[in-house]
Amino acid sequence: MDVIICPDESRVGALSAATVAQVAATVGPRVVIGVATGSSPLATYAALAARVDAGKLDLSQASAFALDEYVGLPVDHPESYHDTIRRTVTEPLGIDPSRVYVPDGDPEGLPTAGQRYEAAIEAAGGVDIQILGIGTNGHIGFNEPTSSLSSRTRMTTLTARTRQDNARFFCDNIDEVPQHAVTQGLGTILDARAVVLVAMGEGKAAAVAAAVEGPLTAMCPGSVLQMHPRVTFVVDEAAASLLTMADYYREAHQSRPAWARLDA
Ligand code: F6R
Repeated sequence: MDVIICPDESRVGALSAATVAQVAATVGPRVVIGVATGSSPLATYAALAARVDAGKLDLSQASAFALDEYVGLPVDHPESYHDTIRRTVTEPLGIDPSRVYVPDGDPEGLPTAGQRYEAAIEAAGGVDIQILGIGTNGHIGFNEPTSSLSSRTRMTTLTARTRQDNARFFCDNIDEVPQHAVTQGLGTILDARAVVLVAMGEGKAAAVAAAVEGPLTAMCPGSVLQMHPRVTFVVDEAAASLLTMADYYREAHQSRPAWARLDA
């Protein structure tokens, strides 16, 4: 995997957006982008929106698939991922809303939600580039520690730690954070043709180190990315602070041949 260590959040945004734009340029206008919610990818979306506004990137024919959705929040709840994706991705990036998909978190539809979502991804031809964040406990999507490394889209139960971490979006009240979610599985994420994971801040340092340099283990779901052929971690200095091979990653990035450099 490639690890790019950046001085600040705006550089994380610029380089992760450049990775997405590079895939979009190769795939063409109908690129399929996997999108995460949460704080980490906001700088990525801002940098992508700047490219769209400048006329350098056209996502009007692209499709987007969200990673996950809470169970039981109405789709128009401001913290539902349906609404979050509309606000942070669909509108600023100019993606046609009819091509934006979010898992169905309605309790009524749960038995088939996973299967229906997998079918929609397959019908779109699969995800070309998946944007990910990582939880402080190493989760990707809402695949919590001990998730099967080959899991598919399904309902999961959030850990107390994840609910605590996400309480900031719910007036700091953990009781307001849903207990369940529908998430793409680790096997589903691995099917994406390329992956870019963004992480910022000291709170992510242990999870980033475990995912990049730790053993492949269901106790750190992000470590499954070690099995993927095309993954880029774009992190800030604080999130990189526990990486034992940081100097090597810096050297590898700086010495990239011209054809492999990112246009950021
Ligand atoms: C979001 C998601 C999660 C987040 C992770 C980090 O759709 O699936 O895995 O990426 O919880 O969240 P932030 O970026 O808010 O720290």
